Amino acid sequence: MTDSTTGAGATVRVAELAKHYQGGDVRIPAVAGVSLEFAPGTMTAITGPSGSGKSTLLHLIGAIEAPDAGSITVDDMEITSMKRRHLTAYRRRVGFVFQRYHLLPALTALDNVIAPVVPYRVRFDKAARGRELLAAVGLAGREHSLPSQLSGGQQQRVAIARALIGAPTLLLADEPTGNLDSRTGTEILDLLAALRAEHAMTVLVATHEQHVAAACDRLIRLRDGEVVQDVSLAGGEQPEETLSRLGGPRL
Ligand SMILES: Nc1ncnc2c1ncn2[C@@H]1O[C@H](COP(=O)(O)OP(=O)(O)O)[C@@H](O)[C@H]1O
Ligand SMILES: [Mg+2]
Repeated sequence: MTDSTTGAGATVRVAELAKHYQGGDVRIPAVAGVSLEFAPGTMTAITGPSGSGKSTLLHLIGAIEAPDAGSITVDDMEITSMKRRHLTAYRRRVGFVFQRYHLLPALTALDNVIAPVVPYRVRFDKAARGRELLAAVGLAGREHSLPSQLSGGQQQRVAIARALIGAPTLLLADEPTGNLDSRTGTEILDLLAALRAEHAMTVLVATHEQHVAAACDRLIRLRDGEVVQDVSLAGGEQPEETLSRLGGPRL
């Protein structure tokens, strides 16, 4: 992956990607032949109804799951043919944010942020970097708070800071606003958009549609594991405007 101090984020190419699950006798095509390219530094909303394959697509790109067919290339690395040892290293360079935060309840905000790098030797001061990241997500002064002492939006900010501790060039967020009210959700998406520029990341967000307009520059819609819509959102333009201009369905 590109060095995040010089690059603008990862280039991600997905070609003819497919993944199915077996539900008893039923074959469920979760991702059914998806080909997409994500340019460095872009922030893309992956939308679509529940079960349309959003999470599966993110899990495949993050190498949490392996595809049945197709390829995923991140910068010059072909993820789908990587050896396990390299995959582990790749996963450590991808940031993940989930709907349910997944903070460790007994650890302070700061200890949650640095938890992913605790087992590793790194070239930076872990606590100092953790404090910097908490400040970057608007939580300076809350380093020693426990998750239970923080609001949902604040807990998600801690989870975002944690996702950034390994200096990822690719950030994958799966319904990061799903547990939040719409105003807090918009704030979280705006935060991701700002961090994307500052930290030179490519960002993919599976998200509830009403929050999309605020932050993303491209919108992809999935249905039954296929891409049914792919529109770029010009700066400041609302997706509703773009879609009506293009004659597409309203969000
Ligand atoms: N571990 C699994 N086992 C069986 N089916 C699954 C599994 N994960 C996802 N699916 C199925 O794959 C399809 C896509 O799911 P998912 O990627 O979670 O969609 P979304 O995130 O858009 O809601 C759905 O039909 C879902 O039920
Ligand atoms: Mg999902």
